[in-house]
Amino acid sequence: MPAFAAYAPGKAILLGEHAVVYGYPAIAVPVNQVEARATVQADLKAPTGRFWIEAPDVDLDCDLQDLPERHPLHRLVQVVQDHFGIARFPALRLRIKSTIPVAAGLGSGAAVSAAAIQALAAFLGRPLTKGQVSNLTFEVEKFLHGNPSGVDNTVVAFAQPVFFVRDQPMEFLSIKEPFSLVIGDTGISSSTANVVSYVRQCWSSHQAYYESVFESIGSLVKKARTLIENGPVMEIGPLMNENHAQLQKLGVSSQELDHLVEAARKVGAFGAKLSGGGQGGNMIALAAAGQEEKIASALRSAGAKHTIITTVR
Ligand code: PMV
Repeated sequence: MPAFAAYAPGKAILLGEHAVVYGYPAIAVPVNQVEARATVQADLKAPTGRFWIEAPDVDLDCDLQDLPERHPLHRLVQVVQDHFGIARFPALRLRIKSTIPVAAGLGSGAAVSAAAIQALAAFLGRPLTKGQVSNLTFEVEKFLHGNPSGVDNTVVAFAQPVFFVRDQPMEFLSIKEPFSLVIGDTGISSSTANVVSYVRQCWSSHQAYYESVFESIGSLVKKARTLIENGPVMEIGPLMNENHAQLQKLGVSSQELDHLVEAARKVGAFGAKLSGGGQGGNMIALAAAGQEEKIASALRSAGAKHTIITTVR
């Protein structure tokens, strides 16, 4: 019985998180060292309509029907059925495995959705374009997060560095010189939905102030784009530092994130900042070639639970 497999990488936001929800640009890159993988196989012995889900990372081994009504997998399956105009899938088994830390700012939810959507479409014999995978993943993200910008689904579906502005066509970035990022995990899980809604509340009561911070972040992102496309890329380091300072003003950093950011800078990172929703999760540091291990080890000594070294190209 053939199995239909698909995968999607993790992602890191290089600059621009939160402001991107309000229409300012962001730059995001895939993190291929971690991934979500989905496999779909027909279950010929099962009764029609049986949709078995195996996701050992989150202790799931059950029929879709047995999951609570608000479970995002219901939404995911509905989104795919609606797209193809089918009432139900033939009996199948969907297996999901992910090495992307959950609730950590590395796009785990979007990657799981993108992988599962692609695998289900391939199983139906109707493969999707990357743009379609991104759009359908966005529908699931809306259910999960309420008000996502769309950057996560875009970068994981296309698996390429992107310059992203909400509701505008996504642009790929051409990278002049490949560069290394060291990612450090505080180990503190943080719900993006909660942090995004916290920022929304603050923005509602101090709009002018918050818009001015978003605007500063937007201009850092535009400068970074020019450097990434034309060089010298290491000059985005100070822009990342500046972006972190702006995120602190938004109240989305934390002691642990600040501590790791400082630790990376102290051992020579060109720049460092939190990445993703914040208030926990991961930070990123820009490393000179050959300095990646030194920074990763300094991050672990400073309390990082995991580190990942990735090259953006
Ligand atoms: O925490 P993550 O990996 O889901 O990244 C969220 C990025 C935000 O800008 C905070 C939210 C969004 O929808 O863009």
